[in-house]
Amino acid sequence: MNSKSPAECYVYITLPGETEAVTAGRFELTKDRSGNALGRFVYGKSYLARGNVVAIDPVELKLSGETYETARLNGVFGALRDSGPDYWGRRVIEKRAGIPQLGELDYLLNSADDRAGALGFGLNQQPPAPRRRFNKTLELAKLEEIAEALMRDEDVKAEEAVQVQDLMLIGTSMGGARPKAVVEDNEDLWVAKFNRPDDRWNNTRVEHAMLELASTCGISAATSRVETVAGKDVLLVKRFDREKTGEGYTKARMISGLTLLRADEAPEQRERWSYVLVSEELRRVVKEPKRDAPELFRRMTFNALISNIDDHPRNHALIAKDRDWRLSPAYDLTPSAVVAQDRRDLAMEIGDLGRFANVKNILSQHTRFLLEQDEAKAIVSEMTDKVRSTWYDVVRAQGVTEKDAETIRSAFVYEGFSY
Ligand SMILES: Nc1ncnc2c1ncn2[C@@H]1O[C@H](COP(=O)(O)OP(=O)(O)OP(=O)(O)O)[C@@H](O)[C@H]1O
Ligand SMILES: [Mg+2]
Repeated sequence: MNSKSPAECYVYITLPGETEAVTAGRFELTKDRSGNALGRFVYGKSYLARGNVVAIDPVELKLSGETYETARLNGVFGALRDSGPDYWGRRVIEKRAGIPQLGELDYLLNSADDRAGALGFGLNQQPPAPRRRFNKTLELAKLEEIAEALMRDEDVKAEEAVQVQDLMLIGTSMGGARPKAVVEDNEDLWVAKFNRPDDRWNNTRVEHAMLELASTCGISAATSRVETVAGKDVLLVKRFDREKTGEGYTKARMISGLTLLRADEAPEQRERWSYVLVSEELRRVVKEPKRDAPELFRRMTFNALISNIDDHPRNHALIAKDRDWRLSPAYDLTPSAVVAQDRRDLAMEIGDLGRFANVKNILSQHTRFLLEQDEAKAIVSEMTDKVRSTWYDVVRAQGVTEKDAETIRSAFVYEGFSY
């Protein structure tokens, strides 16, 4: 931890249907006796005394007067960490602060209030007024230019520093590693994802096409579109955790699969990274397990069919617009052009054969996804046919070039899938 980093902060929440935040509790980051990070969270008495309040996290931080502690994720509770920046946002914040690495709380406190989910963080007991101004889709060209300068690791000029703060910070609180910003058009807020110079294909168009393909496979996927600004494609994914009202935006709560699993990110602690476990955990939390568990089964199958091996638990989420939790729309679906034809592994465990992206493995734990064997089989076979016979047309129809389509061809329904 940076010595100047604050050791505690208030956690704010925008309650269901509201557009202004209230104070939910206090978070403290300290160290245990052996010097390891230890986080503490306690709900405020006045929060608990209000009518109609909700838990920040239905798994780890249930509504109660107790003091919660965690040593995972550098002491930052999953639900709080989910509201903070990842690789990309952290880099922007570090750049602005001129410090290579900051304390965990600095990242939470320094990112803008457009973070995923319904939480906010601050040093004042009272939450700040909600942000009224967002970057407009019209400003995408400028945002993209700044994102590119940051990717090239150029020092952004002093006179632009204020703009970087204004422009880019407004996207830093979204997680993920790819460069992104949050933008607003007349109706909605969108996550804008930019291409990277080292991408092997036009990522924005391919990702957009994958969201479309997922929809045709019966998956409820995020709405997206591609905008071309100054000759460059930008993917806009509609934020499913925001809804515009006369007074401003309502905010849905959101927790990642990682939080649902109470899992850590370190490679040696990934034994809980598993679709089967996500399914079991979500069945306990969501309002309609019979809808969401089979939906998760479809997403797992889809990832295997398009070789999306970056399907880590942060690429899955639960949201709650009101009191009830459900699986969020699918997002961040990206094929990878793997060479191996015999065996490919997803990032999370699928079934009895581990992470092997393969039909038998996918079917091996069907009951845990609340599916009969014949139902599961029918879903897999229908989705396989769909992906095999339509992926090419879908990507081409979304403007993916013939060359790019050939580069990603090996991602779809690889040989080992049907072994
Ligand atoms: N449409 C959306 N609405 C609300 N939140 C979203 C949406 N899309 C993404 N998010 C949130 O933003 C985070 C980053 O988005 P995404 O996973 O698309 O970015 P990425 O940089 O490609 O991620 P990765 O590091 O996994 O490659 C997600 O983990 C999720 O919390
Ligand atoms: Mg992601």
